[in-house]
Amino acid sequence: MTSVNEIRKAFLDYFGANGHNITASSPLVPQNDPTLMFTNAGMVPFKNIFTGQETPPNPPRATSSQKCVRAGGKHNDLDNVGYTARHHTFFEMLGNFSFGDYFKDDAIKFAWELITKEFGLNKDKLLVTVYHTDDEAAAIWKKVAGFSDDRIIRIPTSDNFWSMGDTGPCGPCSEIFYDHGEHIWGGPPGSAEEDGDRFIEIWNLVFMQFEKHADGSQTNLPKPSIDTGMGLERISAVLQGVHDNYDIDLFKTLIKASEDLTATKAIGAQQPSHRVIADHLRASSFLIADGVTPSNEGRGYVLRRIMRRAMRHAHILGAKEPLLYRLVPTLVNEMGNAYPELRRAEAFITATLEQEETRFRRTLGRGLALLDDASKDLQKGDALKGETAFNLYDTYGFPVDLTQDVLRARGIGVDMDGFNASMAKQKEEARKNWAGSGQSATETIWFNLFDELGSSEFLGYNANEASANLTAIVTGGAKTDALKAGEKAELIFNQTPFYGESGGQIGDKGEIVFDNGAVFVVEDTQKRAGGLFCHIGTLQTGEIKTGDSAQLKIDIKRRNKIRANHSATHLLHKALHQVLGAHVAQKGSMVGDDRLRFDFAHGASMTRDEIDRADALVNEVVRQNTEITTKLMTPEDAINEGAMALFGEKYGDEVRVLSMGNDLDGNKKAYSVELCGGTHAFRTGDIGAFAIVSEGAVAAGIRRIEAMTGEAAIEYLKSQSALARAAAEPLKAPIQELPAKVDALLADKKRLEKELAEARQKLALGGGGGASAIEEINGIKVDARVLDGIGAKDLRPMVNDAMAKLGTGVVAYIAKADGKAAVAVAVNGAAVNAVDLVKAAVAAMGGQGGGGKPDFAQGGAPSDENADAALAAIKAGI
Ligand code: ALA
Repeated sequence: MTSVNEIRKAFLDYFGANGHNITASSPLVPQNDPTLMFTNAGMVPFKNIFTGQETPPNPPRATSSQKCVRAGGKHNDLDNVGYTARHHTFFEMLGNFSFGDYFKDDAIKFAWELITKEFGLNKDKLLVTVYHTDDEAAAIWKKVAGFSDDRIIRIPTSDNFWSMGDTGPCGPCSEIFYDHGEHIWGGPPGSAEEDGDRFIEIWNLVFMQFEKHADGSQTNLPKPSIDTGMGLERISAVLQGVHDNYDIDLFKTLIKASEDLTATKAIGAQQPSHRVIADHLRASSFLIADGVTPSNEGRGYVLRRIMRRAMRHAHILGAKEPLLYRLVPTLVNEMGNAYPELRRAEAFITATLEQEETRFRRTLGRGLALLDDASKDLQKGDALKGETAFNLYDTYGFPVDLTQDVLRARGIGVDMDGFNASMAKQKEEARKNWAGSGQSATETIWFNLFDELGSSEFLGYNANEASANLTAIVTGGAKTDALKAGEKAELIFNQTPFYGESGGQIGDKGEIVFDNGAVFVVEDTQKRAGGLFCHIGTLQTGEIKTGDSAQLKIDIKRRNKIRANHSATHLLHKALHQVLGAHVAQKGSMVGDDRLRFDFAHGASMTRDEIDRADALVNEVVRQNTEITTKLMTPEDAINEGAMALFGEKYGDEVRVLSMGNDLDGNKKAYSVELCGGTHAFRTGDIGAFAIVSEGAVAAGIRRIEAMTGEAAIEYLKSQSALARAAAEPLKAPIQELPAKVDALLADKKRLEKELAEARQKLALGGGGGASAIEEINGIKVDARVLDGIGAKDLRPMVNDAMAKLGTGVVAYIAKADGKAAVAVAVNGAAVNAVDLVKAAVAAMGGQGGGGKPDFAQGGAPSDENADAALAAIKAGI
């Protein structure tokens, strides 16, 4: 038997050998189309090439096996999964694409050769349809396959005119059908029995020729192109000789695993449950791997609905503990080679599934009991009260389609009008609460818009670029419908890769290019009213209006710096705990592109050694270069698991828990585990380098560290060593000797200063400096002089010295330096008062005061001009 993995490979290899680029599947969240919830066909990633917006690859051919989800938006198969042979929420679409290269002729030849020669299908089992007016395709089929006219069926309906959605590339198509045999009821396409299961479409060849626009008009594509889609599960069923997609090897393996884990068999009433689990496991795991996480809005809610539907079926099978996450290894084993992203995200998928199931199981049993009770008197054809369905949704976490699914077997519906009315009532209540929350009047616009538009979906954990629809324009605090070049505004889109400032992380900058060519430059992004991402900036060129679609591109280089700084902030937080103690609580943080700032409670300034240790710890974890992982949890679970959370911070139902590095104590735990909604590096090594730039106080008991990462950190460290080099250069010393050199210089300086003072004293006393001989005045020995170049502080020891030499008498020195004068007088064994003499001298020099004791006094004057007169005044006073 040929396995699914072999069939996928054979398809890609065949087209690869025929000049097609084998292209990896694009993510399930379309990054080039705001109108699509999920990638739902193989051509979605190539849409802009078909329409001419992007240049085709060279050669202009591609082939892929594209992950598709049809469980939300236009194509929604969720309700049917489990009960039919061919419905899936997730499937793989094999396709070959020509971008203005070959057209109908080769498309049909390739298809025919592949299925009849490579895959060896019996020609008699095949028939095709064409669009009723497409004579050309009919003629080619006749020639290539040798079909008689009755096996080329002309279909006049939209079944044979394929469009991606309400807008986008489209064209007539030709479908290839396989006849599973007479034993199955059904007729060929176009017949009254066509809905039967006998004739199954296996391949759709679309002759892409037109593009549908939002206003309903249709234009020609620049060049006729080819898009084909073959469901891998269907062709595998045919090639494996089974009729039911769920009987192919891949599903058999998944179902066997769920049989083993639940100790039940996929037969009878249990069969749908096993099928639902196998299908939904694939959809959930692939969506999570592509960055969708369960939430109560948008894509996240579709994922949650899929997950919870599967979880209810696990419950039906009697699973006593969470089941889905235990099936992940089997899935990864089956599909991880073809889709490496599944393997890479395995831990995240496992944790997310386990978390959601653990959580949902807490209310599932009680909700089901309530539902049983509320519906026990209902008959086939009745409807459950909308209010009950809403209560199940609101309190027990039952998506309404889950309630419908439970009641479906009994033929009971749900009063959806009543459900919607209850939902509207609750929204109104919530709105009143906002209004009463004391937000200023200027904020009202944001709350109104939030009410109208709901949260913007943030795609920026995974994507740097995405297309989106403009849902509101706000200028000068008011909503407007259009904007012209040169005008400033805040733009809101249904989804965005731009991070809106929150949790200390600054908002993204970047560029928005509208499909009509207009360009809006985003200077900042703010998150308003709890969930609106507002892109603040100026329209550079063109004109835009609400409803326009555009490509949103963040400044990736800048964001990567922010990512590194944010992850480093977590590591620093943990390092400070280690170095200073667990009392270190975060008091604020700012994560920018150029640096990070972290405020924390700590009673003393950090010592150099503490700073160095914190710095070294962070760098050690950076060098571990381990993957940074994210898990979704309830806040309680996260905190129980030891995540650092910010006290007083309001967390939603789900929190993201970031784990980084390996604990340095050698246990198996992560180094840092923290709740965080910000964007992070992918590995600790992406931080590059870490450097603490400053540590200081911001308020009593609050310290602030500023630090840098990556290139900025290295630049900072380089500038520091450049300073050291600049300092070392004139000393002609290597920088490692700089401290010793500087010490030596300082010691030298001190010594020289001392020598200089001594020399000055000698000079002043010894000669030229106004010296006079010792004289006798009124029988008292007097040594009185004016000394040049002596500072006030040197005067006292000089006077004392002189007094010691003189023995008894009076020593009176007036020192002149820097235009100022100082006077000191010592008296020993003579009947004069030193204080009086000093005062007289100071007064003679135009100063005031002077003081001390009768045997020693000092004073100073602002000018040294009258030093000689002062000396005379002293002598006169003796
Ligand atoms: N895009 C075409 C389809 O999805 C091939 O059927």
